[in-house]
Amino acid sequence: MSQLERLAEERLRLVPAYRPGVRGTGPASGKLSANEAPLGPAPAVRSALLSLQSMHRYPEHGAVTEDLARHAGLRADNIMLTNGSDELCYLLATLFLGPGRVAVIGSPGYQIDATVSLLSGAELRRVPLVDGAHDLPAMARAAHGASVIWLPSPHNPTGAVCDSDELERFLSDVPRDCAVVLDEAYRSFTDPGLRPDVVRLLREHPHLVVQRTLSKDWALAGLRAGYALASEGVIRALRRACSPFNVNSAALAAIQAALPEEGWRTMSVAQIRQERERLERELERLGFEYFPSQASFVTARIEHSRLAPELAVAGLAVRPGEDLGLPGWSRISIGWAPQMAQLRAALRRTAAHPTLIARRGEQLCPRVHRFA
Ligand SMILES: Cc1ncc(COP(=O)(O)O)c(C=O)c1O
Repeated sequence: MSQLERLAEERLRLVPAYRPGVRGTGPASGKLSANEAPLGPAPAVRSALLSLQSMHRYPEHGAVTEDLARHAGLRADNIMLTNGSDELCYLLATLFLGPGRVAVIGSPGYQIDATVSLLSGAELRRVPLVDGAHDLPAMARAAHGASVIWLPSPHNPTGAVCDSDELERFLSDVPRDCAVVLDEAYRSFTDPGLRPDVVRLLREHPHLVVQRTLSKDWALAGLRAGYALASEGVIRALRRACSPFNVNSAALAAIQAALPEEGWRTMSVAQIRQERERLERELERLGFEYFPSQASFVTARIEHSRLAPELAVAGLAVRPGEDLGLPGWSRISIGWAPQMAQLRAALRRTAAHPTLIARRGEQLCPRVHRFA
């Protein structure tokens, strides 16, 4: 090992390597392992990219920042574009974490949150989920002396959402010198009544930072576009910490073309919600435990090593729970209808094997959704 590698290794010692979701083999190439949008973006987005003119210029974020701010119901001073929403995690860790600082995270948590915290040299306080959801009172207690709380809602890998009243209490309980990072990557896939009023929450709780992405409902994962919503002061700090041209011209053009296409987004979200419900009904019918999901995936208690061969027959692949801190589980991204029909058939074949039915009554995480 070279001296440089050794130096890097000191930082990376505790950081788990990220394993991206894989696609199925064969002609179907069904990738139900990365929570991507099955229908892709609106046709207008493709046209905008094909006629992209300004490749020789550095990107200008102003107009898109204004558009997204309007869309979120806030002012441009309260928003910053990021290169995928994961970039925001790196920026927040750079600003607020580091050696001697503490970050709080659910367990299992979203891997990038853990990675950026550990990379910064901060200590990670892990708070076990309850029924797949964040234990907000326990996280608030863990927040004393911490600088960041990572809070994806809906959560990845379970799809559980924070209760709005509990979230409000939580924000009041967490000390104001601790950033609460509410990651709303899957907000659009939740029941409308479960979506917190972040405009009001941001006004009342200056330590709240909302993380959003255009990868999921807007289907722009390959272009890397996300944004932060926060107080003017936090946005100013993020802009100073960020590289000046972090979001490229292709992503900007795609966002501008996508935003007026609300109908497309509504349709593709509705399809995902409908397929999610069908999948949950099938899991229930077959007797597999799962976390009821408000996201674009469902995580079920099925050994990946047993499910994968049945999926491979149809050219599909899902995410092993081992990658996500849930050994013995599989996370199934919602694909388009024909893929999901194939997936349900693979589940039925898996369930037909007697050793594969989840053993009920076993504590895991520490408690999970069980059927009556
Ligand atoms: C909870 C959560 N946050 C953030 C992201 C990443 O989004 P982006 O593609 O904008 O980096 C994901 C992607 O799967 C996610 O599950």
